[in-house]
Amino acid sequence: MTTRMTLDQRRFASIATRRLLGQEGPFHADSGEVWIERLSCREIAKPLGTPLLVYSAARLRDNIAEVAAAADAFAWPIRVHFALKACYLAGVAELVQKAGLNVEVMSEYEYLLARRIGFSPAQVIVNGPAKRPEFLERAVIDEVPLINVESPSEIAFLQDLGRRLGRTIEVGIRINPLLSRRLRGPFTPPGSKFGFDVPSGEAADAVRKIVTSRFLSLQAVHCHGYTRQYTPDAHRAQVAAAVKFLRRVEADLGIRIPILDFGGGFGSRYLMEAQGWTFQQFIREMLHPLIGLPGDRQVIVEPGRYLVNDAAACLTSVLVCKRTAHRRWVLVDAGRNILPPRENAEYVVMPCQVSPGRTVYHVGDFLCTPSEPVPLSLVSGSMKPGDLLAVFNAGAYTFSMAQNFGEPIPNAILVDKGEWTWLFKKRSVEEQFLR
Ligand SMILES: Cc1ncc(COP(=O)(O)O)c(C=O)c1O
Repeated sequence: MTTRMTLDQRRFASIATRRLLGQEGPFHADSGEVWIERLSCREIAKPLGTPLLVYSAARLRDNIAEVAAAADAFAWPIRVHFALKACYLAGVAELVQKAGLNVEVMSEYEYLLARRIGFSPAQVIVNGPAKRPEFLERAVIDEVPLINVESPSEIAFLQDLGRRLGRTIEVGIRINPLLSRRLRGPFTPPGSKFGFDVPSGEAADAVRKIVTSRFLSLQAVHCHGYTRQYTPDAHRAQVAAAVKFLRRVEADLGIRIPILDFGGGFGSRYLMEAQGWTFQQFIREMLHPLIGLPGDRQVIVEPGRYLVNDAAACLTSVLVCKRTAHRRWVLVDAGRNILPPRENAEYVVMPCQVSPGRTVYHVGDFLCTPSEPVPLSLVSGSMKPGDLLAVFNAGAYTFSMAQNFGEPIPNAILVDKGEWTWLFKKRSVEEQFLR
């Protein structure tokens, strides 16, 4: 299973995006302009400048509702934990929190942010291949209900901590079942740094260590193998492999593990829907291997990208149009500083104004690195400096992975019912470096 977005996938994403803009949704094209809710991108960008990250509250709420409805519709209880790493903007995560979803964090920094946003310790899951001891201690003292352990040293540390505190600590264990090459995810190749390997027996040994400890209680089996999936085949194979592992250790050790946490890895909503899957159908299909598993179980999913990615566009201006012997370029003011060229990004670029003509331009950024914000991206029309482009699917892993490289991390706003509010104000040289 490759994580690189192929040219065919980009073409598909671009067609699906045009279709999305043709509808009367929060992002739409009308009268030769692109609109976010009731504001035209041109009008938004005029006072604020570019690049500018613009989130639609309507789309965010709708994505949250879609996930909550899918969780409610399933036969077993499902808890949804937003993977905070997908977006650190407090105003965005607050909408998720206010809608009643929970949160998943990978570090103390994320944990403190989650707490400031309003999530209670009871709403947190802690994941991560290497967690600081002070963070583990804080999570235990705050009574965070699930810490998924990923190494023997974490097990040993938590066991000692439990002994020191005279308490039993509830933990989950992250496992890496080996799937066929076609269905294997980027997080779980053989030898992955994440979790415990299943085929070699490491995972079963770790389970044994936890269940024989007086100070630890095994509550969950966790796996997270994928990113950007639009159809449920791979997730379903992962669930089947986790269930097989669970049945074996439960039978061997005479235990019952009540929680199954299947992580995130779901692609942008409208791209998933363009492939013919709603979130509800995806979840039902991926969890099919749970049928027949005895006992009351709690399922957890940790979507990041699905909730926030298609809820934001990055507006960017053309700085330079350039014709070389080999291609035509438009070089824009949004670079990898706000559009990290993660190999799994789903960016789709479109002009914000009607642009007649068929000249095709490659889209590049202003930075002195041989990179483009949107590899393989093309726009067509008659481009000129000052023209505005919108990069769709810019809501996940953009702000949280942003850098002050070349320019500061740009402004971000939330549009809600025709009004905008600040999510983040870019910093001046003085604010960023001189205090
Ligand atoms: C453990 C875990 N859960 C959830 C997620 C969220 O993944 P996504 O944004 O692809 O849904 C990640 C992302 O890396 C992760 O590592």
